[in-house]
Amino acid sequence: MADIDYAAWLRFALAQVGQQTELRILELFSGHAPMTGLAGAAGLNAVALDVEPKMLEEAQGFRLNANALELPLAASVFNLALSTNASINYLRDPAMLRSHFTDVARVLKTGGAYVFDCCPPERAGTLHLRVMHSPGGAITFSHIYERTTDILVTRVDVSGRGIEEHRQRIYTESEITDAAVSAGFAVELVVPNYAEPYAAGIRPIVTWVLRRV
Ligand SMILES: C[S@@+](CC[C@H](N)C(=O)[O-])C[C@H]1O[C@@H](n2cnc3c(N)ncnc32)[C@H](O)[C@@H]1O
Repeated sequence: MADIDYAAWLRFALAQVGQQTELRILELFSGHAPMTGLAGAAGLNAVALDVEPKMLEEAQGFRLNANALELPLAASVFNLALSTNASINYLRDPAMLRSHFTDVARVLKTGGAYVFDCCPPERAGTLHLRVMHSPGGAITFSHIYERTTDILVTRVDVSGRGIEEHRQRIYTESEITDAAVSAGFAVELVVPNYAEPYAAGIRPIVTWVLRRV
């Protein structure tokens, strides 16, 4: 899990597609849809998509309850697809990652971009055995990085509400590149922390820009 400045993240993503008269944005794995909310407030056209209806209840703007591996959307509609907060690490294996990229490439226009962030092995390594607390201390995050299976297990203890366990597949740069290229993308940029400054210590998330060719 990462603390994210969503406004800066959205600025970074929009810079990848430039000024367009009919910009259409698709926020994948949206959860409470931070990007769709910000985009809507800025007068932009965005749709939030999540597989969990409960997550979408907290979202504002256009919402679609669907699986990011089987997008119920027409081809070549969007200029920009987004995915924040290391969501692609919830895809279980490289085949699933490739299948996801293939469907995102289908719904993007040629020249469109998929901008997402992910947890790289270096970050998972620095999170291993760390216990962290949310501001105020109501939530505790404990991490174990299982290097033999490339799985980062995060136990999230919300005081008074019990413990959730998150399992995230940690992909190498070459696994992501292979999946992206075979799905019809060119890798344009791989940059730490959506190009924002970050503190020393725990390694940052990494932001990718894939271009639909
Ligand atoms: C880490 S949360 C990120 C939520 C949001 N993007 C954010 O930055 O806070 C991951 C989200 O992905 C959703 N999700 C997981 N697998 C999915 C899938 N196959 N298709 C669509 N959404 C999925 C979950 O329901 C959850 O809301």
